[in-house]
Amino acid sequence: MKSMVIGGIILIVALLAGTYFVAGDAFNSDDYINSLTMLGAVAIITITVFVTLKYINQMKNDTAGGELADEKWDGIGEYKNPIPTGWGLAFIGTIVWLFWYWTVGYPTNGFSQIGQWNEETIEFNKKFESKWQNPSQETLTAMGESIFLVQCSPCHGVDAEGINGKSQNLTLRITKDHVEHAIKTGLNNLKTSYPSGMPPMMLTDEGDIDAVSTYVAGGFKGEQPDAYGVCAGCHGPDGTGIEAVGPNIKTYDDALVSAVLENGKTHGIIGTMPSFKGRLNPTQEKAVAAYIQSLGE
Ligand code: HEC
Ligand code: HEC
Repeated sequence: MKSMVIGGIILIVALLAGTYFVAGDAFNSDDYINSLTMLGAVAIITITVFVTLKYINQMKNDTAGGELADEKWDGIGEYKNPIPTGWGLAFIGTIVWLFWYWTVGYPTNGFSQIGQWNEETIEFNKKFESKWQNPSQETLTAMGESIFLVQCSPCHGVDAEGINGKSQNLTLRITKDHVEHAIKTGLNNLKTSYPSGMPPMMLTDEGDIDAVSTYVAGGFKGEQPDAYGVCAGCHGPDGTGIEAVGPNIKTYDDALVSAVLENGKTHGIIGTMPSFKGRLNPTQEKAVAAYIQSLGE
């Protein structure tokens, strides 16, 4: 027993030294909260070591005693000792706590954090709607800029120029490579707004592809190449798009931006633009669309 107590004291000293080594400056702190915490640490270490010692000692030296029950199982008997008081109280306490938890503490359909969060979200969404019922174009553009800086600039850059080709440069509508890519591979990302997509190889002649791509990427200026006739059926004679058939490929507009936000793009010439479905409300979508349209001006 004596050697165990000595061992215990050595352990306490070692643990305290370790604590001092790791967080020593807290011992000398002016802040009494730190001092209290360190005092607590010392107390916890000391009590833990002594309680552990007590039980180790008991395991080594105690022998069970009392009156044996009549039954035996393969020679193993059982004493008729009463349930330890602490254990019994803890057991009854658990049952009492269970009823408290069900009825008073956290009853079914009672308060919940997620419920509160949902209620407040609905309330704030309503406030948002009534506050921004008919925003002016200026307000929309300003709102769009803030949303853009938070949600879109990590990929598109704060200047919206696409971070050296890592994503689309939103200050211009489309590049020649982009149009050629669309013609050759076809595209079908924006299924929600343009269900049938764009079939590949509408044009096969390299000269036609070059002429049409130059014309489209150039913003539809100058004389229209004849081959553009193939495209007009879906994108309109002036390229501004036809609802549910083909998007605007001349300028960005609300329909294209909200289609891209809804579906994202996975097979573009650059790579993947994630879907923002459910992350922006309709006013916010209109706002980013307004901001993007203001960039090209
Ligand atoms: C059958 C209808 C159809 C025809 C014909 C068609 N397109 Fe498309 N085009 C679409 C649709 C739909 C999309 C949207 C694709 C998507 O869902 O990702 C699209 C997308 C595009 C895009 C990509 C726009 C973007 O923002 O990424 C370009 C560029 C394009 N088309 C150019 C052309 C050209 C040039 C022609 C003519 C050679 C043409 N299209 C013919 C339906 C068509
Ligand atoms: C994880 C990166 C990333 C984020 C975030 C992102 N984008 Fe994009 N976006 C891209 C990439 C990449 C493309 C080019 C896709 C392609 O055509 O290859 C793109 C393309 C676009 C296009 C052009 C689509 C077309 O068909 O011409 C628009 C418009 C756009 N993004 C708007 C936004 C808006 C608005 C946000 C913020 C709400 C945003 N993006 C957030 C990566 C991103």
